[in-house]
Amino acid sequence: MSLTLDLSGQLAVVTGGTRGVGAGIACAFLRAGAEVVICARRPPERPVAAAGRSARFHPLDLREPDAVRAFFDRLAAAHGRLDCLVNNAGGTPYRLLGQTDAERHARVVALNLLAPLTASLAAYEVMRQQPAGGSVLMIGSVSGTRPSPGTAAYGAAKAGLENLARSMAVEWAPRVRVNTLVLGMVRTELSALHYGDEAGIAAVGATVPAGRLAEPAEIGDACVFLASDRAAYLTGASLLVHGGGERPAFLDAATVNHPTADHPTAFREAADEPPSIAGTEAPEEN
Ligand SMILES: NC(=O)c1ccc[n+]([C@@H]2O[C@H](COP(=O)([O-])OP(=O)(O)OC[C@H]3O[C@@H](n4cnc5c(N)ncnc54)[C@H](OP(=O)(O)O)[C@@H]3O)[C@@H](O)[C@H]2O)c1
Repeated sequence: MSLTLDLSGQLAVVTGGTRGVGAGIACAFLRAGAEVVICARRPPERPVAAAGRSARFHPLDLREPDAVRAFFDRLAAAHGRLDCLVNNAGGTPYRLLGQTDAERHARVVALNLLAPLTASLAAYEVMRQQPAGGSVLMIGSVSGTRPSPGTAAYGAAKAGLENLARSMAVEWAPRVRVNTLVLGMVRTELSALHYGDEAGIAAVGATVPAGRLAEPAEIGDACVFLASDRAAYLTGASLLVHGGGERPAFLDAATVNHPTADHPTAFREAADEPPSIAGTEAPEEN
């Protein structure tokens, strides 16, 4: 028996769907049969298309609440429905806390927390009136789950976003489900800005247990699942899409992981494996 995720006849909005993660999400919804509307400040450089169909683009600055509300009003009037909102638009420049004023940090919070709040409230007004309800997805980040030096306001906003989703899930149940995808590193057109050339991207990928960065299409597949009726009982949930996450840095420094003559009791996967000291491995049994 095959498992199909069919969103035919449904309408999905993906904010920031013009490139990167958002384009991957938009294409996954197109492949699942949904009609897709993407919004951003600038149009996509190349069509966002999959399965022979294209996403429709609307210009929108998500930091303009009146414009966001007008966008969803027009959408409801034109389509008469809204099944899924993916709050994907987000990001931040690298800036240490003391390097700039609070107003610039506030702009990061405005994009990564307040804009999804404004968009979700507007989407809810449409979804709550539909018999089938709807689904809101937040695109979070592992930055919101640990210290985020250089992107502190971003990390704080993403942490807030996840908590906001949980509260929405309670207030809006059972009609509207609200879930968060907590992303690790994803390979996009802009990865080189953060990680350098191919060798840099591969080196960064090697720090992830999965051995590589995620592809935008993989984030899209997870979104389609959470938006589908196969996830009907999932709300207020956070799905970690991070390839196993970040290996704790202290493990590399701890002597217990580097057996030496002074510290021969290194952690071993098999408890019954004979102890060894670096350079004096026990001979293999024949
Ligand atoms: N890439 C990763 O490794 C990674 C990791 C964890 C989480 N994430 C999250 O995934 C999401 C997408 O990241 P990405 O790497 O794909 O980013 P990206 O390549 O910079 O794309 C961001 C998208 O958001 C739009 N956008 C930015 N500011 C906007 C505004 N004020 N109003 C409307 N649209 C706006 C951009 O278009 P315009 O500039 O034309 O407006 C673009 O379409 C973000 O929420 C990010 O925090 C990404």
